Amino acid sequence: MSEKVYPVPQDWAARALIDEAAYRDMYDRSIKDPEGFWAEQGKRLDWIKPYTKVKNVSFAPGKVSIKWFEDGTLNLSVNCIDRHLATRGDQVAFIWEGDDPKDDAKITYRQLHTEVCRMANVLKAQGVKKGDRVTIYMPMIPEATYAMLACARIGAVHSVVFGGFSPDSLAGRIEDCGSTCLITADEGLRAGKKVPLKANADAALAKSPLVTSVIVVKRTGAAVSMTEGRDLWYHEAVKNVSDNCPPEEMSAEDPLFILYTSGSTGKPKGVLHTTGGYLVYVSMTFQYVFDYQDAEIFWCTADVGWVTGHSYVVYGPLACGATSLLFEGVPNYPSVSRVWEVIDKHGVSIFYTAPTALRALMQAGDEPVKKTSRKSLRLLGSVGEPINPEAWEWYHRVVGEDRCPIVDTWWQTETGGILIAPFPGATALKPGSATRPFFGVQPKIVDAEGEVLEGACEGNLILTDSWPGQMRTVYGDHQRFMETYFSTYPNAYFTGDGCRRDDDGYYWITGRVDDVINVSGHRMGTAEVESSLVAHSKVSEAAVVGYPHSIKGQGIYAYVTLMAGEEPSEELRKELVQWVRKDIGPIASPDLIQFAPSLPKTRSGKIMRRILRKIAEDEYGSLGDTSTLSDPGVVDDLIANRQNKR
Ligand code: WTA
Repeated sequence: MSEKVYPVPQDWAARALIDEAAYRDMYDRSIKDPEGFWAEQGKRLDWIKPYTKVKNVSFAPGKVSIKWFEDGTLNLSVNCIDRHLATRGDQVAFIWEGDDPKDDAKITYRQLHTEVCRMANVLKAQGVKKGDRVTIYMPMIPEATYAMLACARIGAVHSVVFGGFSPDSLAGRIEDCGSTCLITADEGLRAGKKVPLKANADAALAKSPLVTSVIVVKRTGAAVSMTEGRDLWYHEAVKNVSDNCPPEEMSAEDPLFILYTSGSTGKPKGVLHTTGGYLVYVSMTFQYVFDYQDAEIFWCTADVGWVTGHSYVVYGPLACGATSLLFEGVPNYPSVSRVWEVIDKHGVSIFYTAPTALRALMQAGDEPVKKTSRKSLRLLGSVGEPINPEAWEWYHRVVGEDRCPIVDTWWQTETGGILIAPFPGATALKPGSATRPFFGVQPKIVDAEGEVLEGACEGNLILTDSWPGQMRTVYGDHQRFMETYFSTYPNAYFTGDGCRRDDDGYYWITGRVDDVINVSGHRMGTAEVESSLVAHSKVSEAAVVGYPHSIKGQGIYAYVTLMAGEEPSEELRKELVQWVRKDIGPIASPDLIQFAPSLPKTRSGKIMRRILRKIAEDEYGSLGDTSTLSDPGVVDDLIANRQNKR
């Protein structure tokens, strides 16, 4: 691990929103007097009825309950749009950069207000009411953000499903939350290729007839089939509605959105976030971690299908009256200079992306970066997976020309917003470390027995108190919420991440310690890929683990045992990859498949994943104790036939 330290640049210390003294003072207060601290921070929003209660939280076994600002009422879209109109009506809220560099658009706060009201009125005309769930399956176009904000305006709960997910994955998510309305587009466009969103939606709806209304936004103009009485074109429906839609008064604890994420076991969980605390938290983290200054252009490359897109493309920036860039395309299309060209084209000051994108761009060398100016850049950010020091150094030296601090931000879908990250004006940086906790965040490191470790140490990361952006429950299954996050270590939230703390009190996230793998910054449950594989008629058993991958961070390694009489072949290998791709989506495609006559099991029949992980990682010299295996010979075969890494 690199222990190089990058001190806070002097100009940053002098003019950043948070300097070291402010960090220490505010962090101290946030821990000693959370009620007082957050009561004050809650004022960053406009409330209809101000809150009198601030925090009401229990992490007690069997009684987990999380409430913030519970007796206050507000509307989120008003806080993101209406309240800025008097001072920033003509300021750009979203810069949209299309997949094709010739396509772009600017949407001011005033235009955003009109567009969101119109979309809200279309939803109302379809009978969508407060509390109803609306599924959004969209490309990265402005209408995706209108749809999210329109739901918030009328009190509907949105569930955005990433456009790369398959019809089956979409159907499962629609059913789980009981959406009756779906917003989609004819097609998406990524790297010049068309994504058949409406056709996928039709396939999904054939399986889940719950949806009675499908609103279709025209993106490419492709001919798509429209079901009479169920489907309507957005551009036609919007002609008949008013530009004004009065906002619904919501309680702080009313649900805002559900976002599905993969866990260790079972189907993806519907992570539920509520209104008031979430918006206070994303607004505050956005302002301070990115040191956002008025009129700057902020670009987060995440898709709105992931939590990073929710919190730092849409809600955090808009709550702060910022200008946020929405990018439809991919980093290497039409060329490997695209990202840096977009930064120059729009004068981006703050750029926030994932290590996997940086590693891919780094492979193309320095030249595609250096031929652009990037003089507008002031700050860089990283999210989604541990950043390796080599990628960090390259980001700092080549992209930021040693002038821009890097904020490595650790957080999760469940946490709503950033929990551990540097403050660029306060925190000396160490490549690969997310550094120190945000206000109100109390990380602890525990050993396998749950003993809290002190000082420099390594173990599992837990959080011993709540913060306003924390998820409230798993949609429809509070029991699962408590079991997943609060049963491993009583009275604490278990993150699922391993972590090291160094002598300076800096945190270094070491990666997931459960059966979740992080592929290109996207979470994937090994159990999901396994159940997809075993659903294939030729597969009898499958075990999936992660292995180090130079671009993706982790790749998907699948051990597959075939049904008796089936022969392994290259063709079958390809067929299985396609199978999973079609079943879940391209992000779940196995990178390597090893056909194994049998899998290592304990005498009680449990697959020993620890061993499979070691073999996939090429660390089979240190397999540990294999004496409990029912047939130790299995391991030799697995080692002899392990698949080559790219
Ligand atoms: C990982 C994305 C190291 C971590 C916001 C976490 C990170 C999971 C970092 C959540 C980081 C995210 N350094 N690891 N800066 N950021 N992770 O829910 O394993 O898609 O548990 O949220 O990504 O992924 P999720």
